[in-house]
Formats: sequence, C-alpha cells, structure tokens
Amino acid sequence: MEIKKIAVLGAGQMGNGIAQVCARAGYEVKMRDIDQKFIDKGMAIIKKNLERGLKKERITQEEIDETLGRIEGILDLKEAVKDADLVIEAIPEMVKLKLDTWKEVDEAAPKHAILASNTSSISITQMAAATDRPNLFIGMHFFNPVPVMGLVEIIKGQATDDSTVKVIEDVSSKIGKDTVLVNEAPGFAVNRLLVPALNEAVYVIQEGIATVEDMDKAIKMGLNWPMGPLTLADFVGLDTMLYISDYFVDEFKDSKYRAPALLRKMVRAGWLGRKSGKGFYDYSGEKPVPNRF
Ligand SMILES: NC(=O)c1ccc[n+]([C@@H]2O[C@H](COP(=O)([O-])OP(=O)(O)OC[C@H]3O[C@@H](n4cnc5c(N)ncnc54)[C@H](O)[C@@H]3O)[C@@H](O)[C@H]2O)c1
Repeated sequence: MEIKKIAVLGAGQMGNGIAQVCARAGYEVKMRDIDQKFIDKGMAIIKKNLERGLKKERITQEEIDETLGRIEGILDLKEAVKDADLVIEAIPEMVKLKLDTWKEVDEAAPKHAILASNTSSISITQMAAATDRPNLFIGMHFFNPVPVMGLVEIIKGQATDDSTVKVIEDVSSKIGKDTVLVNEAPGFAVNRLLVPALNEAVYVIQEGIATVEDMDKAIKMGLNWPMGPLTLADFVGLDTMLYISDYFVDEFKDSKYRAPALLRKMVRAGWLGRKSGKGFYDYSGEKPVPNRF
C-alpha cells in the first residue's frame, strides 16, 4: 500500500516535529489540534526549524515553501482523517483521551488507513482494541526533537499484521529515520531502560549522594552520555517521567519501578522541568542553574 496523505494528531513538541519530517519527505500532511493557538504555535516552530536549516544550507527557500505548503493546520478531527492513508497520533499521554480519540478516528478514517500511536508507554494492543482494525494498528515511537533524532521504535501489538509493520518501516525510511522493531511491553525497549535509569539518578539526589551538577557531570564524562540524566529528565518532563513510572508499577506489579518521592514532590509543586521553567535546574535566567535539594 502506498502512503500519500498523513494526518498528525497533536501539534505539540512531538506532533509538529512529526508533521515537519513527513511534509519534508513529500507527504501531504494535515496537522490537527484542539485550539487554533496550538496549531499556530506548532506551525511557527516548524517554520523556525526549517529556516535554521536554510542558514546551515541544508535546505533551499524553495524547499521550505514547498514543505510548508504541504502542511495544513486543522481543527476538525473528521476532516483531518477522512482521506488519510496513515494517522499518527501525538496527543497527551492519557489512556482515556487516547482510547476516545482512536474510537472517533476509526469511524472517520478510510478503512485502509493505518493507525499509529507515538505513545511513550501505553499499550498498543489496548488502543488497537478500541478500533475495528487492530491489524492496522501499530506503535510509531519518535524521539525528541523529531527532526534531529534518527530513530523510530516500531511497536507490534498483539494483532498487528506484518504488512502493517512493512509499510511503517518504509515510511520511516522515507522520512530519514532508522528503525528497531519491538514487541508490545510497557515502555517498549527504550523507555524500559531510560525511565528506571533517570529515576535512579533522582534517588542519588534524594539521598544526598551527589549534587545535581556533579551527577550530570559524572554521567556525561564517566559514561560518555551527551547530556546528564537530570538535564535529560528536565527535557523529557518530570510529569511524563512520573506518569510512566506509575504506569510501570501498575503494569508489571513490581515496586522496583517506583518513582522517587522527590520526583513526585517536584511534580506536585509544578516543577515539571524545562517546560515549566523549573525542575532539577532553574531555567529563568540565560543559563540553567542547578537547584539544591
Ligand atoms: N516529549 C517527549 O520527549 C516524547 C517522546 C516520545 C513520545 N512522546 C509522546 O508523544 C505524545 C505527545 O507528547 P508531546 O510531548 O508532544 O506533548 P505536548 O503536550 O507537547 O503536545 C500534545 C498536543 O496535543 C494536543 N491535543 C490534546 N488533545 C488533543 C486531541 N484530542 N486531538 C489533537 N490534539 C490534541 C494538545 O493541545 C497539545 O498541543 C505523548 O503520548 C508522549 O508520551 C513524547
């Protein structure tokens, strides 16, 4: 099956990146959000990203205009998906919201359309079961920032057809991404490792073993990570990390995944990392300043 038209649900940090890379590869994209202000913000980010590429001579003005011309911002869900060959969902990580959205999409999208979720942890099989086409349902897990990161983690649900996997591998390749194929499990492969690792770094802070800056420096220089774990946690969003940790405990019935009390306390205080201006670092000034705990 040839994919020509893609609907992207959500124009947030992941959705606008997905819309950008798909349009850049030549797909016709409809980017849907629930309020015009989110669509405008997403479009502005795409434009800024593309213009950065112009300065680095990675793209011409003509290619920018063509790419932007292939993205239509849209509010109506039915309109967004009615002629899509592929729907990629990047709405907030909330089970009920995703299940309700997939039910609506299933009714409005053409019968041949493949449905792909960019969820970080939620069961692909559970979402697939909310539709009448579980064989065409799949996980397509991008990484942040989407235009920069080279991987798509493809997740096969219980009923996903091999032919669906093949189409998504082809689309991923066309948008310039490498892939790994994994089976359904909470957090799949990458977040299964990442979230416990980042939580452990938070335990180190909670127990007063190292300061925020020393922990980040130690892991950057000692393990050759491109950024420290607390910087990365602030990047991911502390609320997202807490959500995934709680989901792991529920799904695995294993307390080894439990979130540190410090993480929960910070989320309750509204310290969500970069997006709220405060997390393990304070982002109100020119440079991030590590907080003391
Ligand atoms: N942030 C990351 O590093 C990252 C990485 C991989 C996957 N993800 C996953 O991607 C998804 C989106 O995350 P994000 O970081 O882009 O969140 P975000 O909050 O930046 O964006 C979500 C967007 O979805 C919109 N939205 C809400 N309900 C909607 C609906 N019914 N239809 C269309 N749009 C709707 C919101 O208005 C918002 O603009 C989540 O499932 C998340 O777990 C995030």
